[in-house]
Amino acid sequence: MDYIVNGGQRLKGEIAVYGAKNCALALLGATVLTNETVVLRNCPDIVDVENMLRLLRAMGKTVTRRFDTVEISGELTTTDAPSSIATLLRGSALILGSALAKYHTINLPLPGGCAIGSRPMDIHLKGLEALGITVSQTDSGLRCQGIPKGATYSMRFASVGATENLLCACALAKGESILTNCATEPEVVALEQLLVSMGAQIDGIGSTTVTVRGVNELHGAVFDVIADRIVTATYLSAVVATCGDVTVTNCKPSHLQAFLDLLRQRFDTKIYCDAIRIKVDKQPNDYGIVTTAPYPKFPTDMQSLVMSLAAFSYGGTTVIQEKLFENRLQHNANELRKMGANVTVSGDTATITGKTLTGATVQSHDLRGGAGLVIAALNARGRSRVTNVEHINRGYIDLAKNLSSIGADIQQIN
Ligand code: EPU
Repeated sequence: MDYIVNGGQRLKGEIAVYGAKNCALALLGATVLTNETVVLRNCPDIVDVENMLRLLRAMGKTVTRRFDTVEISGELTTTDAPSSIATLLRGSALILGSALAKYHTINLPLPGGCAIGSRPMDIHLKGLEALGITVSQTDSGLRCQGIPKGATYSMRFASVGATENLLCACALAKGESILTNCATEPEVVALEQLLVSMGAQIDGIGSTTVTVRGVNELHGAVFDVIADRIVTATYLSAVVATCGDVTVTNCKPSHLQAFLDLLRQRFDTKIYCDAIRIKVDKQPNDYGIVTTAPYPKFPTDMQSLVMSLAAFSYGGTTVIQEKLFENRLQHNANELRKMGANVTVSGDTATITGKTLTGATVQSHDLRGGAGLVIAALNARGRSRVTNVEHINRGYIDLAKNLSSIGADIQQIN
């Protein structure tokens, strides 16, 4: 599937954000901790989430969806995650901690996901070992067994997924656990809140040190998936690309401060409790130096958006340092050059000098990179074709249709 984009159409109006993929995946992983019903509202209907629901279903859970509300209940009938589904998404790894907590065993094929770097799992596994779990690597993936026992564990890096898995493992562990250097991304905080609403005992929600006192069992809950901060940033970038005037609603501005700081210095940006209005008259000179890091610093998932914005900025030079995923710079730099962009990459640093872009055929290599290419195509002179948009559909609800609703000339062709 491809997108055909005719650049230069000014975006105007209002567009609403939906629930965050990475929040939904973590919350879905946690549903394994109870047989009771967990209801997730605002759960986005996107490919990665549907695959996670398929995985839960294949392992025995009863799953129903009605519009954006998903209900999950029942017991796992197997702790062997089927590789035909688990390898489709990285998020499948998020059942590791909860399955161990509740069933004390899991076989998990090595998870898939975007080709954005080597993505090791050592922090997850060392953390589980600290809780007394035995981890072994088999031909087909990982075998983990044991009853989690409270422990103190310091992550060598504030990994989102490892924090999420360990929180779930500790929630039903015997005794108290103290996790330090935890990730504090809004999606992690949402998981902590869901766990508390299921009966978990957690202190330090939202901070880097979290104490979890294991309980014997958890119960059902009703919970709202938080607004997708990356989709919010994507919509805002689309407005910048087209010198538009748009209000992005149903979002949580406080979850994307680092990105908003970048925009606020350059554009007329009004921030409300759950909306952002941005009005763009002209492209800025540059975006300075942008370095990705764990929350609340600049997110890696918004890096490709900035690379595109910088590529069509007004002649100045932007430097991007990508500190998390090693492949994220090079792919998009190569594609943007096909549109005439002036981008060079050396190690973890991209240097981009803004210039006029021209429509071209470019290929999405991963979800966020693909979204970045759409942003560049919205600005470029003439027609672009963004290929392999299957990657984009893993994390966005009908990006073409949503951007069209505020005036973009973009359509998906199969
Ligand atoms: N890392 C390790 N060892 C580990 C775990 C992580 O070395 O055991 C490294 C990674 O290689 C990476 C860094 O630590 O360099 C951060 O990885 P993290 O574990 O925080 O990322 P993740 O949990 O695999 C989630 C999101 C990603 C997002 C990152 C960073 C989900 C399902 N995925 O991944 O989202 O980029 O956090 O914020 O929550 C996306 O949505 O497109 C996406 C890739």
